[in-house]
Amino acid sequence: MILPIYIYGQPVLRKVTEDIEPENYPKLNELIDNMFETMYHADGVGLAAPQVGLTDRIFVVDLSPVASEEHPEFRDFKRVFINAHITERSGEMELIEEGCLSIPGIHEKVPREGEIRIEYFDEHMQPHNERYSGYMARVIQHEYDHLDGKLFVDKISPLRKRMIQNKLTGMEKGKVVCDYKIRTVR
Ligand code: NI
Repeated sequence: MILPIYIYGQPVLRKVTEDIEPENYPKLNELIDNMFETMYHADGVGLAAPQVGLTDRIFVVDLSPVASEEHPEFRDFKRVFINAHITERSGEMELIEEGCLSIPGIHEKVPREGEIRIEYFDEHMQPHNERYSGYMARVIQHEYDHLDGKLFVDKISPLRKRMIQNKLTGMEKGKVVCDYKIRTVR
């Protein structure tokens, strides 16, 4: 089922999410399926629970749509991150353009660390402790930020923030055009 994506200005996007207990979450598989379906429908490569209105510590990533000859490893990179916690960030800061399904039509350069280590459980509740770098580290950090109520526009330069402020203010008031199902504040 395709869920509406919550848009900038929705209070849930600013909530810090909480770890889930799978035994208290009988519809976990259904949620994961719906999150992937919602993400594919909107042409995204990542989606976090707050973007569908939930305060659970879950996000999904599928990099296969951006796989290339240069990056064949993205082809099989479909992951569910449950109760995710980044335990290390290192490497050079890199400035790369990002977008977000909750902030349609805005793309800005965002500084992020080049390498991370993350602990999480997959959809079978198997624990993982993995290191990522490059684009994978970037997408994971973007989605992970959603779990802490942070958005990429919080991290852009003050000048660029001023340049897009009118658009953001419009979004907060429900002024947004996009071709997937959304839920604005009004
Ligand atoms: Ni996002």
